[in-house]
Amino acid sequence: SMAQKIITFANHKGGVSKTTSTASIGACMAMKGKKVLLVDLDGQANLTLYFIPNEDEIEMSIFDSLVNGVPLPVKHIRENLAIVPSSLEMASAEIALTNLLARERL
Ligand SMILES: Nc1ncnc2c1ncn2[C@@H]1O[C@H](COP(=O)(O)OP(=O)(O)O)[C@@H](O)[C@H]1O
Ligand SMILES: [Mg+2]
Repeated sequence: SMAQKIITFANHKGGVSKTTSTASIGACMAMKGKKVLLVDLDGQANLTLYFIPNEDEIEMSIFDSLVNGVPLPVKHIRENLAIVPSSLEMASAEIALTNLLARERL
């Protein structure tokens, strides 16, 4: 079986290259033949808009999955590269999930 690896680029501070690193390292790994799924959890959705500039193409985001329970939306970008889009709604996800038990596991 193929080994799976999760790499997270996370930092409270803005402007430190989280999005740029995710986009370039993800795209390079895809070019090298790794199957890459980018997961955008940032309410700014910059990673999503970088790969899908036309917002009309984004019907569902990770917000709809986390908060409304729809299946995780996966958008194909190019060979070996796909993304779970974020949206501005993610900025309110923490509030929307406040009353959920063990929300940090979600
Ligand atoms: N390696 C780099 N060299 C030069 N500029 C960079 C580099 N990485 C990021 N930047 C620039 O720094 C700014 C912030 O990067 P960004 O990835 O949006 O940060 P974050 O996602 O952490 O807020 C952007 O204008 C980006 O183009
Ligand atoms: Mg960013």
